[in-house]
Amino acid sequence: MRLSIHSLREMKKRGEKFPALTAYDHPSARLADEAGIPVLLVGDSLGMVVLGHETTVPVTMEDMVRATQAVVRGAAKALIVADMPFMSYRVNDDETVRNASRLIQEGGAQAVKLEGTAAAPVVRRLVEGGIPVMGHIGLIPQSVHQLGGYRVVGRSRAAARRLLDEARVLEEAGVFALVLEAIPAPLARLVTENCAAPTIGIGAGPHCDGQIQVWHDILGLFPGFTPKHTRRYADLASVIREAVGRFAAEVRGGAFPSEKESFSAEDDVMEGLRFPGRDD
Ligand code: KIV
Repeated sequence: MRLSIHSLREMKKRGEKFPALTAYDHPSARLADEAGIPVLLVGDSLGMVVLGHETTVPVTMEDMVRATQAVVRGAAKALIVADMPFMSYRVNDDETVRNASRLIQEGGAQAVKLEGTAAAPVVRRLVEGGIPVMGHIGLIPQSVHQLGGYRVVGRSRAAARRLLDEARVLEEAGVFALVLEAIPAPLARLVTENCAAPTIGIGAGPHCDGQIQVWHDILGLFPGFTPKHTRRYADLASVIREAVGRFAAEVRGGAFPSEKESFSAEDDVMEGLRFPGRDD
């Protein structure tokens, strides 16, 4: 049985903090699910960490639908939330609803996430139509060109006030949870203590109801780069580099494959067998 959006609210009421991770494919979703991660976000960070783009802006609906399908097939218990890509919810209403529906119907997600407060009327429309929506404020990566880079949001009093207003607008619009990205910890605390919807922080300090991180960041899959808000729980880049290097060396040296990794044939099958045209 999958976790529901209502279970998240119950967790908040009980004061139970929860972890969340991004997932983009079947094997990672399966591992996260087996490890007991209750919320998996098919983030459009896929554009950067999987597809190698510089920003999340080039990610398409097709990218998101395909990745969501793989994650849903991999994880049986987690609540699966799919990001709506850049501009896919700022088109006309019908197109927006169609895009969100695709992530639910074709992708198999239980909810969608969208960035910013300009989308508040869209949130209302989707929620009324039966699609749960997760909000996302603070640093909103799809607006990187508008923001002029990735930086902490809400440091001035005016910016902090703006963020509190945004949280209120989105809560009133009906989001079931709210991602707070790269904001000061005391500001995240104020939002968390005043919103019924669970907050999920990334670079927003310890007071949020949940914490989300990018799969590749906590596992050290990006050698040389760790965002300030991340803690590395493994150095998989080194593990992979070492394993792949050993494979390459063994192939070059003839140690792989051995008899153990090969298939045999009966003697009477091979006896007298010649390659066609090379009989002499
Ligand atoms: O796309 C993503 O990975 C996200 C998380 C950082 C919350 O939106």
